[in-house]
Amino acid sequence: MKIRVKDLLGMKPGQDVQAKGWVRTKRGNKEIAFIALNDGSTINNIQIVVDKTRIEDSVLAKVTTGACICASGKLVESVGSGQAVEIQADSIEVLGECDPMRYPLQKKDTSFEYLRTVAHMRPRTNTFGAILRLRSQMAFAIHNYFHSKGFVYLNTPLITASDCEGAGQMFQVTTLDLNNVPKNKKGEPDYAKDFFGRMTSLTVSGQLEGELGATALGNIYTFGPTFRAENSNTPRHLAEFWMIEPEMAFYDIKDNMDLAEDFIKHLVKYALDNCYDDIKFLNDRYDDTLIDRLKGVIDTEFVRLPYTEGIKILEKAIADGHQFEYPVSWGVDLQSEHERFLVEEHFKKPVILTDYPKEIKAFYMKQNEDGKTVRAMDVLFPKIGEIIGGSEREASIEKLDERINELKMSRKNLEWYLDTRRFGSCPHSGFGLGFERLLLFITGMQNIRDVIPFPRTPKNAEY
Ligand code: 4AD
Ligand code: MG
Repeated sequence: MKIRVKDLLGMKPGQDVQAKGWVRTKRGNKEIAFIALNDGSTINNIQIVVDKTRIEDSVLAKVTTGACICASGKLVESVGSGQAVEIQADSIEVLGECDPMRYPLQKKDTSFEYLRTVAHMRPRTNTFGAILRLRSQMAFAIHNYFHSKGFVYLNTPLITASDCEGAGQMFQVTTLDLNNVPKNKKGEPDYAKDFFGRMTSLTVSGQLEGELGATALGNIYTFGPTFRAENSNTPRHLAEFWMIEPEMAFYDIKDNMDLAEDFIKHLVKYALDNCYDDIKFLNDRYDDTLIDRLKGVIDTEFVRLPYTEGIKILEKAIADGHQFEYPVSWGVDLQSEHERFLVEEHFKKPVILTDYPKEIKAFYMKQNEDGKTVRAMDVLFPKIGEIIGGSEREASIEKLDERINELKMSRKNLEWYLDTRRFGSCPHSGFGLGFERLLLFITGMQNIRDVIPFPRTPKNAEY
C-alpha cells in the first residue's frame, strides 16, 4: 500500500517500506548514492540511500531529477542530520523516466516569472508544493470556521444576469454565433435567441443571492470562483479569483467588522498552527519577516477609521513631503499606495476603513445620515492593501430604489433582489474576502499569479 512520505518520516525505524515519488536530487560518490524523494505530501523529502553494489547502474542512471520512482527497503535511523529516518534501498523501480535535457524545471532558472511560463509543472517545485498545500488547508479552515459558527454554506450561481458590483466588468456568456449575431428590430443583438433567452455573464460576486440566503436562513457564506474582466495587470488582480462571502441577518456594521477581524485572525492562526513546515520554508527561503508578520496580525487589534479621517492623514502626509503617484482628496477611490501608507507606515497594523463616499461604492450599501457616505468597510492589510470589502446593506426599499435610479441601473433585473426589502426586510451585513489576497498574505508571495494553480489574467488563459 502507498505510504506517503509525510507519514514515512514519522514512522519508527526498523520496518520494510516502499516510497513512491519524484526525484528532487541525486548526489553521492562511487560507492553510494543519496536520492531526495518527494511526493507532494510534505515540504520535506525522504532520503533514499543506495549501496551501488546492490542496484544496477542502468537503473540508477535513470534516477534523474524529476523521474518518478518506487524505492523499497528498510527504514533506518538516519546518520546524517536533517532527517530522523531514511530508507536503505533494496530495490529501485523507475516508474517514469525524465529526460534531464528537456525537463522544464532546471536549477538554472527558478524565477517566479519563468515558473509562470511552465505553470503546468511548477507544482513539482518545493515552493509551489508549499503554496498549494497551504491553499488547500486554508480552504478547509474557512469551511470549518463557518460551520463551527452555524453558518449555512450557500452555492450561488456562476452564470447570472445581474451585475452585483455595478462596475461593468463582466465576462459575457453566450452561445450566439459571433460571426452571425441575430439582431432585433433596433439592430442590437437579439438575446431572446441566446441560450438563456437573455444576456448573461459570469458572476463578479455571489452577494446578491447571498442576501436572499441570509434573509431566510440567518447566516450564510459562499465560497466559489468569481470573474472580473477588469483590465488590471497588477500583482493583486486576477480575472478569475475565489471569494468567500458571508452574509448575516441582524448584523450591523460593527458586528460585521468584529466577524471580519475574528475570521481573518483565526485563519492566520490556523495556518501557523497547522502548516508551520510550509510557512517556515517560505519564511526562510524568501522573506524572513513572514512569520513575525503573521504573528503580528493575530496579536493586534485592527484600527477602525472613517474614510474621512484616512484622507486627512494622507493629506497631512503629503503636506509633510510624502509623495504619492495618485492625488488624494475627499471623494477619490484610494489606490493601493494610499492603503499601504495607512497600514504600513502610519498605523503599522491592519486598518478597517469605514464610511466611504457613496459615489465610489456599490448601490446596495446602507446610506449614512450625512447623505454623503455609506456604511462600507474595507479591511486593509500590510503588503496587500484591500483584502476584504464589505458593508452593512441598505434595508430600506425607498432608499435602495432611489439609489438604483440615481445610478441609472436596470431595475428589471433586480426585482427579485428588491423583494428581500419588500417582504420582511431586515438589517443585515456581509463582506467578501479575496481568497488569493489572503494567500498572498499568508505565503508572503509578491504576485497573485503565484498563489493560484492556473492564473487567469489579461491575455493569459493557458491550460
Ligand atoms: O471589494 P469587492 O469588489 O466586494 C464585493 O464583491 C462584495 N460583493 C463583497 C461582499 O460584500 N459580499 O471584492 C471583495 C474582495 C476584495 O476585497 C479583494 O480581496 C477581492 O475580493 N478581489 C479580488 N481579488 C483578486 N483579483 C481581483 N480582480 C479582485 N477583485 C476583488
Ligand atoms: Mg472593494
